[in-house]
Amino acid sequence: MTSMKRREFVQKSASALGLLAAMQGGHSLIEAAEPTGATSEWNEARKQILDEMESGRRRSGLSVPREDGRFLNLLVHMLQAKNVLELGTFIGYSAIHMGAALEVTDGQLTTIEIERERVLEARENFKSAGLDNRITCIEGDAHQVTRELDGKFDLIFMDAEKGNEVDYFKVLFPKLNNGGVIALHNAIRFKGAMQPYLDIVFNHDQLISVILSLTMDDGFAVTYKK
Ligand SMILES: C[S@@+](CC[C@H](N)C(=O)[O-])C[C@H]1O[C@@H](n2cnc3c(N)ncnc32)[C@H](O)[C@@H]1O
Repeated sequence: MTSMKRREFVQKSASALGLLAAMQGGHSLIEAAEPTGATSEWNEARKQILDEMESGRRRSGLSVPREDGRFLNLLVHMLQAKNVLELGTFIGYSAIHMGAALEVTDGQLTTIEIERERVLEARENFKSAGLDNRITCIEGDAHQVTRELDGKFDLIFMDAEKGNEVDYFKVLFPKLNNGGVIALHNAIRFKGAMQPYLDIVFNHDQLISVILSLTMDDGFAVTYKK
């Protein structure tokens, strides 16, 4: 099977499974990923801003899909993360998913973006979502900024430019707490460019890594530090 045919097959199978579950009174994969909690984590302002980004009423082209945003939110909860780092803010969609969970864990997110216009837009979005006290957006090149960052992180979400992950890893591995996680986005879509990084994290004594996908498309490499 060619890779395109395999991808189509997997996507169609996944949709069929979701439909079957819904028909049987269960929840489809997408429904299961909806924010349903009634906690202060998901107030109307936050839901609305994500809806506006998803519907294109706010610029959203480079953001992770909703399922991946929900996964990042889940990771913050599972790790009870207090200190989170994101490389590649864009306009803040994934950051809002993580920032909402940080309201519950009482944590902080530092996110780095190289393009000024995007930094300004993201900061506005954090303010509208009532998360500007949780999320700090730093303008700059993440290769440089990460070298200057103090502190240790429970979760690092890498989603800046693709193909330079090894440099980020060298700088950030010592800044990742034991029990912490690095989640790299697009590890299926850009697997070729990311192979040098994947080779390191899959063959490292102190790390456990898997590749997974919630959309049968972009994919994450999720790496746990023992
Ligand atoms: C895929 S987008 C991030 C999407 C965002 N994480 C989300 O899901 O909402 C990648 C972003 O990384 C930024 N970027 C690329 N290279 C960078 C670098 N070296 N340092 C900081 N940001 C960078 C781009 O300007 C772009 O906005």
